Amino acid sequence: KTNQQWGGRFNEPTDAFVARFTASVEFDQRMYRQDIQGSVAHATMLTEAGVLTVAERDMIIQGLADIRADIEAGRFEWSIALEDVHMNIEAALTEKIGITGKKLHTGRSRNDQVATDIRLYLRDEIDLILLEITRLQQGLLGLAEQEADTIMPGFTHLQTAQPVTFGHHLMAWFEMLSRDYDRFLDTRKRVNIMPLGAAALAGTTYPIQRDITCKLLGFDTPAENSLDAVSDRDFAIEFCAASSILLMHMTRMSEELVLWTSAQFNFINLPDRFCTGSSIMPQKKNPDVPELVRGKSGRVYGHLFSLLTLMKSQPLAYNKDNQEDKEPLFDTIDTVKGCLRAYADMVPALESRKEYMREAALRGFSTATDLADYLVRKGMPFRDAHEVVGKSVAYGIETGKDLGEMSLAELQKFSDTIGDDIFDVLTLEGSVAARNHIGGTAPDQVRAAVKRGQEKLTQR
Ligand code: ARG
Repeated sequence: KTNQQWGGRFNEPTDAFVARFTASVEFDQRMYRQDIQGSVAHATMLTEAGVLTVAERDMIIQGLADIRADIEAGRFEWSIALEDVHMNIEAALTEKIGITGKKLHTGRSRNDQVATDIRLYLRDEIDLILLEITRLQQGLLGLAEQEADTIMPGFTHLQTAQPVTFGHHLMAWFEMLSRDYDRFLDTRKRVNIMPLGAAALAGTTYPIQRDITCKLLGFDTPAENSLDAVSDRDFAIEFCAASSILLMHMTRMSEELVLWTSAQFNFINLPDRFCTGSSIMPQKKNPDVPELVRGKSGRVYGHLFSLLTLMKSQPLAYNKDNQEDKEPLFDTIDTVKGCLRAYADMVPALESRKEYMREAALRGFSTATDLADYLVRKGMPFRDAHEVVGKSVAYGIETGKDLGEMSLAELQKFSDTIGDDIFDVLTLEGSVAARNHIGGTAPDQVRAAVKRGQEKLTQR
């Protein structure tokens, strides 16, 4: 027996392996809701267009509702022989309501159908991802507010640079995520365009009304060109690109958390529920969540490249290659959601070890720039001040003293411009408080940034 959906011109059934090899139902069945949603809109539109009767439409809609219930109750039998989610549902519909089911596909092709389904599916998932980014950002705001006064070393080249506040550092993460949010939101605009009506590639001879399906499905506008509509997967690539950048940001956060939870840094305690132990070393508590998120970036970057390569050199219009768009896209969605969820749950539970952060900030001459700035305020050109402070640091390394631990007499050996007002400048608190402008690390600025962040989130 040849395939019931397209067997007409065939003389023999599909080879059993080829049937399995070409089938996508195992992974595209997750779009069953969107497939049904699209079919309901299509049938409704066909009725308005006079192609289906009201009675036929109602039978189709009822049949599809029953199929959805069957799928959700686990009663639906997916068949590899029926290739994909689209033909499985269509065949089940005909089985349920008889010959009327065979009319549903009028003026439609699986090519515009699948493109429509993916866009509907991805649109819903982007909305969930946007919510989850916001939840993570909310957590960061809460923590940043709590840690606005906590002082830690700021690094460049992973060497102690200048003191910063932990809240300021967390708000840097917040900024990265704000850009990610905007990128997903912007991608969504190009996702929310309707291919339905393009049919196989050229459009259809039926008097379809694409504005009706467009409205019913909540798309912003019908795709302009039928050839492009069935073959465009830019939106999936863009989604994977936005996801890759998000994951890249999360690897940076992860890397810092892994470092900070190590005994050598000891800046952060990750509550036990986010960690696992070792089967051999009894003392171990490993930061698995950040490590795994760091590792998961690899598959997301890979999916971006899969899709770019998938689309490369494809002639217009639809090619079967495109069936390969789904697994990378779906795995990207799952991975992004998993990473965001883990982080949104974990971030509010991070506990800072303020004493260790402070102690670390006191090492490594983190206030050297403050001393140079002090000399400049007293009239010394910056380059000369740089030299003076460099010498006093060299002296500090030799004698094992940080700048703040030197006596006034010791400091004055390097410049007699230094007075006893220097000690306020060399404290960690003085150093961070002095960077008091928009974008600076001063605790007051962190609190102001948190406030602006909160406003931003409520406007979403
Ligand atoms: N399963 C197919 C896909 O995912 C649906 C479209 C098939 N169209 C076709 N002409 N073979 O792309």
